[in-house]
Amino acid sequence: MPIQIVRNDITKMKVDAIVNAANNSLLGGGGVDGAIHKAAGPKLLAECRTLSGCETGGAKITGAYKLPCKFVIHTVGPVWQGGGFGEREKLVSCYRRSLELAKKACCETVAFPLISSGVYGYPKDQALRVAVDTVSEFLSENDMTVYIVIFDKASYRIGEKLFKDIEEYIDDRYAEEHTDSVSERIRRMNAAPMPDFSKSIQYGDMAPMAAAAPSLADAVKQLDESFSEMLLRKIDERGMTDSQCYKKANIDRKLFSKIRSDRLYKPSKPTAIAFAIALELSLGETKELLMKAGFALSHSNKFDIIIEYFIEHGNYNIFEINEALFAFDQSLLGA
Ligand code: APR
Repeated sequence: MPIQIVRNDITKMKVDAIVNAANNSLLGGGGVDGAIHKAAGPKLLAECRTLSGCETGGAKITGAYKLPCKFVIHTVGPVWQGGGFGEREKLVSCYRRSLELAKKACCETVAFPLISSGVYGYPKDQALRVAVDTVSEFLSENDMTVYIVIFDKASYRIGEKLFKDIEEYIDDRYAEEHTDSVSERIRRMNAAPMPDFSKSIQYGDMAPMAAAAPSLADAVKQLDESFSEMLLRKIDERGMTDSQCYKKANIDRKLFSKIRSDRLYKPSKPTAIAFAIALELSLGETKELLMKAGFALSHSNKFDIIIEYFIEHGNYNIFEINEALFAFDQSLLGA
């Protein structure tokens, strides 16, 4: 999964490079800057002293010393002044310059904190949006895994309205599933009039049913099509290329080529759903694709209900869906 939003302490991340939200002097400070210098030890500061600072929006790279990674990329975010002083452009530049340095250092994995969203006051949800959009743009052209590290849940809040909307959607459905207790189901079944098997059913009685059901040949043909065959068929029907599809699904290239080369490959449920979202399948097509991977969307878990919410509302933005899944403590798509 090329971009992952995780809750962690960035100084613990075992990646090729972590990014530090520094200040122009590069001589340390509080927040994540302080935590990184503390964990790396004094040699990091000694190296930073040789860099003669860094301009806002710029980035510089050093060793990582006692940290469990290879490099530290120091970038200086903008101080939030209300949004009318080019803050967004400078923040975008922090992510771009840092990713360019990581690529130059042949990093395969990089972890970012939410730059400027602490002491510098950048509103956390906007800071996250800039991070996700800028990193996604870079990943559409480059192969790398990027972690956006959230240190405290408060910094990861989807819009209140969307949060309430999804909460109601879950309650309506989740409740249905859970009021229908087993005893109620058995009682209802016993109350249902049993069909009278004494009357042999004439073939003609089945005619309407037979007419509605697909022909046996069609049904077998549908059964024959595997998950990967339906996935590739849908990619063609949508006029997409393979790479457009798996990048939009936030799935890495290696996993996609495994699915493409093995017609009977069975993906995980989040992966199957990520493809359904990338292809913007309807709810019916999504259920069909999932069934071919051996899964179903169920109202007994919030993850599935949130997916259903976004498909019903025609919102296929995988990052907005992941932000919602994260806000409801669910695993993320494309994992
Ligand atoms: N791991 C991951 N994220 C962290 C950690 C950590 N150990 N500690 C803090 N954060 C998060 C904060 O919750 C915030 O969301 O990093 C984000 C950035 O906050 P700051 O560290 O305050 O950085 P910033 O807002 O960019 O301000 C930079 O603060 O520390 C000083 O020297 C620094 O002057 C500079 C200014």
